[in-house]
Amino acid sequence: MELDLKDKVAIVTGASKGIGLTVVKVLGREGVRVVAGSRNTTPELAQLCNTYDVTIVTVDLATTDGPNSLIQAAVRKHGKIDVLVNNVGVASPRSGFLDISDDEWQRVFNLTFFSAVRASRAALSHLLLSKGVIVNISSINARLPFPMVVDYSAAKAALANFTKALSEEFAPRGVRVNAVAPGPVRTPFWTDPGGFADAVAAGAGVTAQTALNDTVPRNMGISTGRITEADEVADLVAFLASPRAANITGTEFVIDGGQIKTT
Ligand SMILES: NC(=O)c1ccc[n+]([C@@H]2O[C@H](COP(=O)([O-])OP(=O)(O)OC[C@H]3O[C@@H](n4cnc5c(N)ncnc54)[C@H](OP(=O)(O)O)[C@@H]3O)[C@@H](O)[C@H]2O)c1
Repeated sequence: MELDLKDKVAIVTGASKGIGLTVVKVLGREGVRVVAGSRNTTPELAQLCNTYDVTIVTVDLATTDGPNSLIQAAVRKHGKIDVLVNNVGVASPRSGFLDISDDEWQRVFNLTFFSAVRASRAALSHLLLSKGVIVNISSINARLPFPMVVDYSAAKAALANFTKALSEEFAPRGVRVNAVAPGPVRTPFWTDPGGFADAVAAGAGVTAQTALNDTVPRNMGISTGRITEADEVADLVAFLASPRAANITGTEFVIDGGQIKTT
């Protein structure tokens, strides 16, 4: 399918690894001029700059000014914005609600929810001019709250609600807003030392790799028997960002291998 994304300008938050990095790759391959924001530059992201039209902006998106500075850098470079992918988010494995301090709640909300609020606010005047698109990366935890990530689940629920409200306000003026809600995706979020694979592995007495390939799909009821790959999420984002999805707005697309059992 031809996505007609060539020469569009897209901003991707949280772009140095995982889903964000993969979205940069897929959009770059489609001929999009991508502005990639994260605190660090990984060799994988630097490599994409050699292959596609990718500009790296080093930014802390947890700060009040970070999201706006990323948007302004993109406008300075390309003069317009067509697509904003609010991907950045953070979760830490918790032993339960009583484990989480006020500062931790604020840290998780700041990056998972307020970065999207701030980036969207800064980008909207440009998206209104281009009749652009916002894609928010939510999570199945928005509607499937887990005690292990109670703060993150609440932040993603806020993001899902925000997605709908924005879509209602701005659809009549030509801006589409949708969300992608993945179940577990094979990224450093899971695979980094101290990440969720290690936490599951410790509980189950298996290796992190067995936890990801076997324990997680089985214990979480993933019907396909496997977790999602980042490329599968990025392809969905690219479709939603494209004119092929021109009449889709205010919708959340779950990609979870059948983990959510309700209709
Ligand atoms: N993986 C999953 O199972 C899963 C499932 C559902 C939803 N999601 C959502 O998908 C999104 C991406 O997840 P992922 O698994 O790809 O995460 P990841 O592998 O942990 O990557 C996170 C990205 O965000 C960047 N980042 C973190 N803190 C930042 C900050 N303060 N400022 C700027 N950039 C920052 C990181 O780069 P730097 O460290 O260089 O800043 C990195 O590029 C998140 O919103 C997550 O909640 C993930």
